[in-house]
Amino acid sequence: MKPRVIVTRKWPAAVEQVLAERFDTTLNAGDIPFTATQLKAALLNFDAVLPTVSDKLPAEVFPEEQPRAKIIGNFGVGFSHIDVETAKRRGIVVTNTPGVLTDCTADIAMSLLLAVARRTGEGERQLRAGEWQGWCPTHMIGAKVTGKTIGIIGMGRIGKAMARRAHFGFGMKVIFFNRSRVDDEETRAMGATQLPSIEAVLEQADFVSLHCPGGAENRNLINAERLAHMKKSAFLINTARGDVVDETALADALESGVIAGAGLDVFAQEPQVPERLTRLENTVLLPHLGSATEETRVAMGMKVVDNITAFFAGEAIPDRVV
Ligand code: DGY
Repeated sequence: MKPRVIVTRKWPAAVEQVLAERFDTTLNAGDIPFTATQLKAALLNFDAVLPTVSDKLPAEVFPEEQPRAKIIGNFGVGFSHIDVETAKRRGIVVTNTPGVLTDCTADIAMSLLLAVARRTGEGERQLRAGEWQGWCPTHMIGAKVTGKTIGIIGMGRIGKAMARRAHFGFGMKVIFFNRSRVDDEETRAMGATQLPSIEAVLEQADFVSLHCPGGAENRNLINAERLAHMKKSAFLINTARGDVVDETALADALESGVIAGAGLDVFAQEPQVPERLTRLENTVLLPHLGSATEETRVAMGMKVVDNITAFFAGEAIPDRVV
């Protein structure tokens, strides 16, 4: 008997095909997000549940009776939408997909940084609206990127990929905050300096890029007080999780000139985006595109396949979270 597997959203066709060959797989061809009740039923009735960032799995979604699910194979590296402690208590393994989305997420962070600094979103909107009056020396002046200082909060895989892009691609000075000490040699190779506090990074950086996990430990890490530590000319980039930033405080800071602009790929209540942020010209807003390339989404799916295949074969699970 093949294990019963349920996929909560539509995945790349190549991955769905492998899942269908290896397991008794239920797909979501319509791609309509599951309700909490459907997620609970999935945990009750399937051996493996394969959710993603759009599925919320707090403690209440775990059924009171013994779930059939033995593994939650998350499609994505971030897992703050899953109550992993509850999963662990209920004897359910949780896995994620680290590594394969590092480059593409750093690429989106860099593209947000460039877009907000050089006002490319604003420029494109002006041109498409037929409002461009022609070249002139004072038209839509932005901020130079090359040679500036980038401050990275969270020097994991994606933070390091961003540091390398900024340093080697744009000659930027890299400073960063990370809870644990990053190996000196690795830090030197990225032309970077580790600072002892988030505030120290915020005070010196021209661009602040967030690469730390979401969830309770970092909720509203960037709040009004911390935004006030940033330079008035500085920009905030977030490709991590929306809840890392207090969005009301950010809108206040952008409206009142506490900081110069923000490039955001993630939001606290996706797909809802605070209306105040959408009304501002000094924001660049993307619909959570960090990992959205053909290569990366297939690789993420194949990682989930590898994780659950190893689990059901009784082998070591490559990306076990709990
Ligand atoms: C992740 O993997 O956590 C991403 O945010 C989903 O694209």
